[in-house]
Amino acid sequence: MQNPSETPSGGPRPRAHRVHRDVVSFVRRSARMNPSQEKAWQTWNESRVVRVAQGETETSVAPQPPVDWTAVFGRSAPLLVEIGSGTGESLVAMAQQHPDANVVAFEVFQPAVASTLGRMAREDVDNVRIVMANGQQGLEHLFEPESVEELWLFFSDPWHKARHHKRRLVSTDFAQLVRSRLVTGGRWRLATDWEDYAQWMREVLDDAPGLVNEHLDPTDPEHTGWAPRLEMRPVTKYERKGLAAGRNIRDLTYRKTS
Ligand SMILES: C[S@@+](CC[C@H](N)C(=O)[O-])C[C@H]1O[C@@H](n2cnc3c(N)ncnc32)[C@H](O)[C@@H]1O
Repeated sequence: MQNPSETPSGGPRPRAHRVHRDVVSFVRRSARMNPSQEKAWQTWNESRVVRVAQGETETSVAPQPPVDWTAVFGRSAPLLVEIGSGTGESLVAMAQQHPDANVVAFEVFQPAVASTLGRMAREDVDNVRIVMANGQQGLEHLFEPESVEELWLFFSDPWHKARHHKRRLVSTDFAQLVRSRLVTGGRWRLATDWEDYAQWMREVLDDAPGLVNEHLDPTDPEHTGWAPRLEMRPVTKYERKGLAAGRNIRDLTYRKTS
């Protein structure tokens, strides 16, 4: 009988290349777009979606020199970044409130990116560019250290089961990556409607070196560490869903100190 590790002629069978899959914070769903998403994608993707070198999977970002964002936007301006922008409900409204900033969003789900492109066109917002890839890797490979003014992470997937906690975007390592990319004095703003994830964020980030919780002051009972609701953040589908289910919305703000 033939040895399965050999070819019929007896030579060693070449090993199948195994694709390396990282633990990621998202699941890929069907990427089918409806007609209006299809139209928005066709009209806007070339000018608004930034192509980057991909790693082994479709959503990964390969190590590469940082993107020249000034060239991409055609102007030099403070960089604001959102990871997991979904259909762009908060992204587009917040970009509109920061006309003097260059806003970069990461979203892996193509129909959501297409909806964002449509929303940008309707709202006449053109200071946003989207990278359709894993924002964790994108932040690492596409930005210079000390180059981002703000990072936004709103209603990031909570991954409730203990065995899935490793998929949560907020982690000790990610906190240090965020710290390295933020300018000194730059802010990381987060919001979630899941209390266990909110507490997790506090546990991980309150003690993160180089980051300080802007609303925590042990000498002041008014400053318990939870930020007031971020006014510029519109109420999105996820916030409405959380509120309708009786959940509390938690906002957090960390500032890079060193
Ligand atoms: C629950 S939705 C929230 C969307 C939006 N932030 C909002 O508040 O309306 C989370 C989104 O993050 C995206 N996502 C999760 N992890 C991501 C990652 N590492 N990089 C890019 N997108 C990610 C998912 O595809 C999903 O669309």
